[in-house]
Formats: sequence, C-alpha cells, structure tokens
Amino acid sequence: MLRTIILASISLVLGLTVAFADGHKKNEIEFPKDYKSFKNYFSGDRLSPNDGQIIRIFANDIAVKGMKKDGKLPYGSVIAAEIHKAKKDKDGKVIESDLGRRVRSKLAAIAVMERRKGFGANVPAELKNGEWDFAVFKPDGSVAKKDLNTCRACHAPLSETQHMFSIEHLQ
Ligand code: HEC
Repeated sequence: MLRTIILASISLVLGLTVAFADGHKKNEIEFPKDYKSFKNYFSGDRLSPNDGQIIRIFANDIAVKGMKKDGKLPYGSVIAAEIHKAKKDKDGKVIESDLGRRVRSKLAAIAVMERRKGFGANVPAELKNGEWDFAVFKPDGSVAKKDLNTCRACHAPLSETQHMFSIEHLQ
C-alpha cells in the first residue's frame, strides 16, 4: 500500500515537473483561428518606426462585452492584430493612396495579446503587463520566432490603458 502511494506521488511530481518545464518553453497563447470573426475595431497605418506597415486590430466577444459593461478587459480577452506590409513603388518607397493612406500588400504576421488568470506570472517585474501575455504568428498560424520580451517591454508602461495602445478605439 505504502509502496503504491510512494510510486503514485513520484509519478505525480514527475508529471508536474514535465508539465511545468513544458509550459515555459511553449507559447502560452494558441493561435486564435477564428480571429476574423472577431470585431475589427481599428485599421490604419502603423506608427513610427513601423512606417512600412498597416495594422488591422480585432477583439473577441469577451473583450468587446467587457468594454461595454465597465470599460475593463476581462480574463479571456483576445486581441489579434494583423500586420500587413504596405505597397511600395519601384524605388521601394511606400506609396500613398488618393486618401493619403498606405495600401495593404501582403499579410506579414498576426500579433496577439491575451489576458488570462496567471498569465505572465513568471515574467520579470519590469516586463509585466498585468495578466496579459503576447505571441506572434505567421499567416499560416504557426508560431513566428520572436523575442516576446520586446513586446512586453513596449506595452508594459501602458498600465493606465490596460496595456493597450488602441483602447479608445475599442467601443
Ligand atoms: C516599440 C513598441 C512596440 C513593440 C516592441 C510591440 N508593440 Fe504592439 N503595439 C505598439 C503600438 C504603437 C501599437 C498600436 C498600433 C500601431 O501603431 O502599431 C501596438 C498594438 C498592438 C496590438 C493591438 C492592441 C493594442 O495594444 O493596441 C497587439 C495585439 C500588439 N501590439 C501585440 C504585440 C506583440 C505580440 C508584440 C511582440 C511581437 C508587440 N506588440 C510589440 C507598440 C509595440
């Protein structure tokens, strides 16, 4: 009996260790396959230094409803941002449409923010974004190699707007 309990405890500890180690390596966020059915609340030219890009931002139902209810983005909020390359002329200069805006050419990546209980728990204090975490995917949905600490560092100071740059547009 004791032997069974000891063996069971050992395998539980091993199992947890493996799960924990794995959780660190893996992207915490899964590709939100259905993001195109989310609300596209903002589209526009990206700010400097991303002058050759256009962004289209989508928010899931949980985020939209949360904002309507009390202006807060609850656990389960997912924000997906399509990053497009802008069209260039033959000299490599980004062209402007008659509206003075960039024109989309190719989808380059999908950047995602997701808020879940416990997300970011292992992130150093200066890189913490509440319980938001970040991920970036290739257009086919596979994980793009990118240092996610760069995302965390740039969004971290925005605690007053729930770590979002575009919060005023989400309504
Ligand atoms: C140098 C600063 C900077 C870095 C680094 C950065 N972002 Fe952002 N992010 C922005 C800005 C500014 C916006 C607003 C739209 C725009 O102009 O690009 C934005 C918008 C977003 C949005 C839409 C929600 C919002 O905050 O408005 C998502 C999602 C996002 N970024 C994810 C990421 C991910 C994932 C990474 C890392 C791969 C990343 N960001 C790295 C500055 C940054």
